Amino acid sequence: MQYSTKLSNIHATKEFAKLVSQSISANFVITLKGDLGAGKTTLVREILYHLGVVGSVKSPTYTLVEPYIVNDIQINHFDLYRFNDPDEWIESGFDEYFANNCICFIEWPEKALAYLPSVDWQLQIIVEDDTRSIEINPKSDKGRQCLTQLTKIAAH
Ligand SMILES: Nc1ncnc2c1ncn2[C@@H]1O[C@H](COP(=O)(O)OP(=O)(O)OP(=O)(O)O)[C@@H](O)[C@H]1O
Ligand SMILES: [Mg+2]
Repeated sequence: MQYSTKLSNIHATKEFAKLVSQSISANFVITLKGDLGAGKTTLVREILYHLGVVGSVKSPTYTLVEPYIVNDIQINHFDLYRFNDPDEWIESGFDEYFANNCICFIEWPEKALAYLPSVDWQLQIIVEDDTRSIEINPKSDKGRQCLTQLTKIAAH
């Protein structure tokens, strides 16, 4: 099972973000792969707005993680690009960010693969000019259920 779609401009990315926000629920981990500037942060930002985050959503490039709380749900947005060593995952205490009920987005997961918690969706973005090809691979039962939900909503 895999889902793919093409987003031909920012507007399409925003619509897709809405679809994602309607398909996932608490206790969910999404990794996002793609080149520098592929649109990982842009997509996460739009998903967060649809989940109810108010105010600015900054890229966690320098802070490594930006936490939010919406309706009692903890949302954590990671960017591991600046890791020099996967062990920084442990040194940064990141395991503690995966408490019950959180929703986590992880950019540059390849920087700490060995330490990542179990992932529900692996999402990949491929760039062609302003078009972004998105691929989602579910990695858990919940991930598959939520992806089925996404395809149902997308079909309406
Ligand atoms: N269809 C599209 N969807 C998303 N972003 C787009 C699209 N077309 C162009 N862009 C632009 O691509 C850029 C994506 O930047 P963004 O910071 O989201 O990338 P990133 O993958 O998070 O990079 P990094 O690896 O540096 O964190 C933005 O400037 C955005 O405006
Ligand atoms: Mg980014």
